Amino acid sequence: MNSSDEINSPMDINSLVRQNVRQLTPYQSARRIGGTGNVWLNANEYPVAPHFELTQQTLNRYPEAQPAQVINRYAQYAGLLPEQVLVSRGADEAIELLMRAFCEPNQDSILYCPPTYGMYHVNAETLGINIKKVPTTADWQLDLPAIEQNLDTVKLIYICSPNNPTGNLLNPEDIKRLLTMAHGRALVVLDEAYIEFSPQSTLVSWLANYPHLVILRTLSKAFALAGLRCGFTLANKPVIDALQKVIAPYPLATPVADIAAQALSKDGLANMRLHVTNMNNNKTKFITALSQLPIVKKVYPTASNYVCVHFKADKNVFQTLWDKGIILRDQSKAIGKQDYVRITIGTQAECETVITALKAIH
Ligand SMILES: Cc1ncc(COP(=O)(O)O)c(C=O)c1O
Repeated sequence: MNSSDEINSPMDINSLVRQNVRQLTPYQSARRIGGTGNVWLNANEYPVAPHFELTQQTLNRYPEAQPAQVINRYAQYAGLLPEQVLVSRGADEAIELLMRAFCEPNQDSILYCPPTYGMYHVNAETLGINIKKVPTTADWQLDLPAIEQNLDTVKLIYICSPNNPTGNLLNPEDIKRLLTMAHGRALVVLDEAYIEFSPQSTLVSWLANYPHLVILRTLSKAFALAGLRCGFTLANKPVIDALQKVIAPYPLATPVADIAAQALSKDGLANMRLHVTNMNNNKTKFITALSQLPIVKKVYPTASNYVCVHFKADKNVFQTLWDKGIILRDQSKAIGKQDYVRITIGTQAECETVITALKAIH
């Protein structure tokens, strides 16, 4: 056989792909869905880019595995010890690391409560970990009796507060009951990706009392650094130690650690808090304007930087705005009812553009 024969012979690569990956529907990230527009309100990003300069010129060297300055600053910001903090490639990597460290494929399960963030499901599916879905109650709170009935084989319970895509906070008393229920059996992973928009609602202080509580955080939202890919796991040392065993040797590129450290400096934190004030002001105005529109059925209360809106039937809001280059996130499938759209709070001008476009729909 000469070399050109080898190259030309057909081969079904797909038959080599793991079966669960063959069947997998990948996460439909905002970027993957695409769109062409100039108003991007579909990924819960901060609408204005912050400016940073690199301070380190050491790209010939591997980075620190867990950059001390980033860890120390985040620990101080969160009111924890450095040993209670792990930094990773976004909160998304943390979601997966927990599964890799704690769940036996084809044996253990994760449990989550839809409608919620899609990556808990996708990661478990990719890794061949069983999945238990316990839908939230009609008011998007935890259905504790149903969770209790489904705890068998569950090692990780993912909950999200403020919840994406609904925007509501989970009732802390329910989380306390969940922690009691899960004690000795499973970790409760509380995703606080949006907590900076409602900082008084963080449950980070509960880490002192609950060895099986894990909190996820990110620089992608209030810190305006979604492109940096930097997130944090907050937990007690035994959990962090287990994650350290499975994380990549150099999860954060040197420029990422450099910028993350700056974002967590005193000035960086002050900027983040300014972002939150700006967003919360825009949000109040935007919600008031939305609530007055005849095509709006309900604007759900939100503790985050996005708002879930139920529009009147058959107005085709998502598609109409998409066609105008205003990219929102259709949530009808996730919520299981038609005409639900999630809108990220943008700049004041972007919010006004949305309102004008909605007013034009009859
Ligand atoms: C609830 C929730 N958790 C985690 C993430 C992922 O965060 P990161 O950008 O840090 O990976 C997102 C991103 O949209 C999110 O909405």
